[in-house]
Amino acid sequence: MTIKPNYDLMQYKTVGNSGLKLPLISLGLWHNFGDAADPSVMRDIILSAFNGGVTHFDLANNYGPIAGAAEQNFGKILKNDLITHRDELIISTKAGYYMWQGPYGDGGSKKYLVASLDQSLARMGLDYVDIFYHHRRDTQTPIAETAAALDLIVRQGKALYIGISNYNAADTRAIYNEFKRLNTPFIIHQPCYNLLNRGIESGLTDALDELGLGCIPFSPLAQGILTDRYLRGIPVDSRVNTSNFLPMERVSEHSGKVVKLAALAKARGVTTAQLALLWLLSNKTVTSVIVGASRLSQLDENLASARLAPLTDSEKKAINAIFA
Ligand SMILES: NC(=O)c1ccc[n+]([C@@H]2O[C@H](COP(=O)([O-])OP(=O)(O)OC[C@H]3O[C@@H](n4cnc5c(N)ncnc54)[C@H](OP(=O)(O)O)[C@@H]3O)[C@@H](O)[C@H]2O)c1
Repeated sequence: MTIKPNYDLMQYKTVGNSGLKLPLISLGLWHNFGDAADPSVMRDIILSAFNGGVTHFDLANNYGPIAGAAEQNFGKILKNDLITHRDELIISTKAGYYMWQGPYGDGGSKKYLVASLDQSLARMGLDYVDIFYHHRRDTQTPIAETAAALDLIVRQGKALYIGISNYNAADTRAIYNEFKRLNTPFIIHQPCYNLLNRGIESGLTDALDELGLGCIPFSPLAQGILTDRYLRGIPVDSRVNTSNFLPMERVSEHSGKVVKLAALAKARGVTTAQLALLWLLSNKTVTSVIVGASRLSQLDENLASARLAPLTDSEKKAINAIFA
């Protein structure tokens, strides 16, 4: 595949009060980039995304399986195909969940975060990442220590910007205050947010707006539930069957709503996934959404949502009525 990014295909939005811009659609490597995945499909998805204007790729230390494999596989593609485009890419990784045995392979201590990022950089063959996230709040570590570790990482030149993920509103405000004192470039929050999980609307979105932070929702399609994937049963190669993270009961629980969303999408001439993504992109707090894809056709469908007309107020009302 020829590598030739067409930036006109994508729109870019500024992250909070920072100077960094992200594409409306970013690509996440949580699933489909581990050792069980086909290397040629992984390569096609990443290079097609980049050609479609996706400048941002989201990873974490534990993405696989096995943990670390996604960073390693991404590193290979980067080295072979994209390294001359390094300055056109925003690469993020994270630490915060269990990664290695013993007391220093999990949590939010300085020991864990510094060591984990060093390991991630080695796996990806990078000198620095663009955004380094603390993956979840660790209540056993003082928030000041986690903030100091992330600040140190920036001072060491190993990350340009800092983000947090899965933090509630109160903890977001607390770590923001630490970063403000340290003058750390803390710019973004990565929460779970989609039509089936609107928890961040109870306090977190207000905090992000008030503090001038970007918001980059993960699992915008609720791992595939908010698409046509499960409208005719459970495909053998779907996430329900290939991963432990999506129980079949979750799919069945929401199927009635998804059928209604699919009908609205059809009436608008878009797909169910595109309507679910458009709903997120019409929220002023949302900077970008991190989609996953197990095949090129899904990626193409999802990227096209960045080129669609925004939702009208009456369309938003109709969608909100389904998921009230
Ligand atoms: N910070 C955190 O704690 C955290 C947690 C989770 C995720 N994330 C980030 O967010 C990224 C995205 O998460 P996600 O993979 O759950 O996102 P998602 O976009 O909600 O789900 C992706 C899955 O949905 C299905 N899909 C995607 N597009 C489709 C389409 N157009 N039509 C039909 N099915 C479609 C595919 O599943 P099939 O495999 O069934 O084809 C795909 O693997 C991750 O890679 C990671 O970077 C972060």
